[in-house]
Parts: sequence; C-alpha cells; structure tokens
Amino acid sequence: MKTISIVNLKGGVGKTSTAISVAAALAERGKRVLLLDADHQCNLSLHLRADMDAPDVCTILDGEEPYYENLLQHTYLRGVDIVPGSLDLMAYDLGVLNGNPQRRAAIRDFAAALAEDDVYDYMLVDCPPAFSASCAATLYAADEVIIPTSIGQYEEWGVENLTRQIDGMLSVNPQLHLGGLLVTMWHNAPLVVQGEARMREAFPGRVFRTVIRRTDKVGESAYYRESVLDYSPTSAAARDYRKFVDEYFGGEANGEVKV
Ligand SMILES: Nc1ncnc2c1ncn2[C@@H]1O[C@H](COP(=O)(O)OP(=O)(O)OP(=O)(O)O)[C@@H](O)[C@H]1O
Ligand SMILES: [Mg+2]
Repeated sequence: MKTISIVNLKGGVGKTSTAISVAAALAERGKRVLLLDADHQCNLSLHLRADMDAPDVCTILDGEEPYYENLLQHTYLRGVDIVPGSLDLMAYDLGVLNGNPQRRAAIRDFAAALAEDDVYDYMLVDCPPAFSASCAATLYAADEVIIPTSIGQYEEWGVENLTRQIDGMLSVNPQLHLGGLLVTMWHNAPLVVQGEARMREAFPGRVFRTVIRRTDKVGESAYYRESVLDYSPTSAAARDYRKFVDEYFGGEANGEVKV
C-alpha cells in the first residue's frame, strides 16, 4: 500500500476535490483505495456521505481502537473506503503531538497494519490548510506528497513554504518524498498561463504535465455528493483527473508491473 498525503497550507486550492477525484479514477481502474479525512472541516467525509457518528480519525490519533476493521466505512464509490474526519481535530496540538512519539506514529502504525494485511492499494490523505497536528501525523506516515495548487503569487509563496516544511519532515520520515505539484483550476487567462510557466520555472521537474481545468461541474458535484467523475464523466475536470492518474500512477494504476 502506498500512502499519499494531499497537502497545501493554502486553503481552497483543490485538495479535497483532488482526493475524491483521484480515488474515483483509481477505483475505475480496479484499485482499492482508502481515503483518510485529516481535516476538521470534514468536506471529504460529508461529500462522500460518510457516517459522521461512527469512529473517526481522532480514534486513530488517540490509539483508542486496536482493530482497523472498526474504523473503515464503505462509500458509494465501489472500491473506495473512508475514515471520516472530525471537528475535534482542531483541539490537537502540534507541540503535544511532536512530544509524544506514540501519538505521532499513530497514523503510520494504522497504515502499517493495513499494508501488512494488503487491504488497500492506496491510502490517500486529505489534509487541512495548515501544518496542524493531524497534517504532521499524516506526513509522518506518508510515502509521497501531492501538492495541488491554483496559480498565483500567494500560491507560489505557499508552495515554497510547504516544500521547506516537507524537507524538515525528512529527519523524522526519511521515506517521504514529493510526488509533485498539481496545477488546479486552470483556465486560459494570461495570469494563469504566465503563472503556470513561472511555477514550472520555480519548481523544475516538480510540476505534473497534466493540469486540472476549472469547471463549475466540480462545485456542482459537491451538492449532489458525487465525485465529479460520476456526476459529469466527460467534464474537463473529470477527464483531467483521469489523465493525471495515468500520468502519476502510470502502469501501476493499470495493473501493469513496473520494471
Ligand atoms: N477544477 C476545479 N474547477 C472549479 N472549481 C473547483 C475545481 N477544483 C475545486 N474547485 C472548487 O474550489 C473550492 C475549493 O476546492 P476544495 O475544497 O477541493 O479545496 P481545498 O484545498 O480542499 O480547500 P480547504 O483548504 O478549505 O480544505 C470548492 O468550492 C471546489 O468545488
Ligand atoms: Mg479540503
């Protein structure tokens, strides 16, 4: 199982939309995916109609449930399960977590137990827009990080800041590496086209070729609580997310063995 954290300290850049859409695209290719909602806003859980009264990610952080089976919920997306988020995540303190190795390792241990039993192919973690305790715990557990980002100067500064934080995490999680930057909400406007070129120049080789185009279908899909791939399979964003999964996961996502 590969654990991928979807992170950006900036809000509203498409992290949750990316988590749902990538999970849906992987499931279309027959992959088994677990979504972990590490955000107190719980957008991912609400969008995917999770049972919010069931045990959530805080149960993992508190080490209260030794059997992972009791934490996993099926979603309406075949092949995609979820561990829901909780508003209580706001109360977790980064300093306290860092000072408590057992808590810091809670999500990593949870992932290790799932990997040992080969329950999923991928665990995708949707992070809050902050370097919070839950975000740190997921980076401690992750193999890779995907940074969705819209285009703009603030966004570019945010990514610079985040890549420094990720480098800082390498001392506690040496296996962590940057999968790449995914440009979201792309549209054909001079600011976006020039900003994308700047982003590629600032982070050479780190920005995925595929960009996710802006379309209202993504926002509409939330009202219907469906992935955009189901809600509007031929929309620009749905097609882009499928293309992104092909680019990022390559043969891995199609069941081919990489040599
Ligand atoms: N490709 C897209 N085209 C148009 N709108 C989009 C696209 N991707 C995301 N959005 C919209 O932008 C808003 C923010 O997206 P999303 O919630 O996925 O971002 P986020 O980074 O998870 O936000 P937060 O930091 O608050 O968790 C939502 O209203 C969503 O519907
Ligand atoms: Mg979000």
